[in-house]
Amino acid sequence: DNIKSPYDAIGGKETLSKLVDAFYNRVGKHPDLAPIFPDDFTETARKQKQFLTQYLGGPNLYTEEHGHPMLRARHLPFEITPTRAKAWLACMYEAMDEIGLEGPLRKEFYDRLFLTAQHMINTPDDHG
Ligand code: HEM
Repeated sequence: DNIKSPYDAIGGKETLSKLVDAFYNRVGKHPDLAPIFPDDFTETARKQKQFLTQYLGGPNLYTEEHGHPMLRARHLPFEITPTRAKAWLACMYEAMDEIGLEGPLRKEFYDRLFLTAQHMINTPDDHG
């Protein structure tokens, strides 16, 4: 069977690790995002690497350790506004640029993240 998962096709663990580190480096500096994240990204990044591994068809690392992702529910404690979703996606887009992830796989991956990000929105922009 030589049909690769998107996870293998983008370069597996090494690529995801670089991507997630580049991503949270930007999140930590983003004025709309930094306030809702912990100061230390170690654990957040570790979980995101596990999650994106299974999201792209690699081993089910996230579920093995944390159970069903239930991503929308896990984001309910945070005010995820349309502005924050845009900022999250911008950090991801720039992280993909930074690590040189290109081509149709990048587009498929990003488009999927775009939809998932819309699903996380739980608070209007004019809130409070
Ligand atoms: C956790 C924000 C979208 C996957 C978190 C946390 C915040 C956050 C504040 C908690 C961090 C921590 O306490 O360690 C956001 C915002 C988003 C967004 C503002 C904008 C739409 C996404 C998307 C995905 C995702 C699109 C997946 C593709 C995760 C995962 C965790 C997480 C896997 C860890 C959950 C856990 O605690 O086990 N996010 N997120 N997030 N986010 Fe997001």
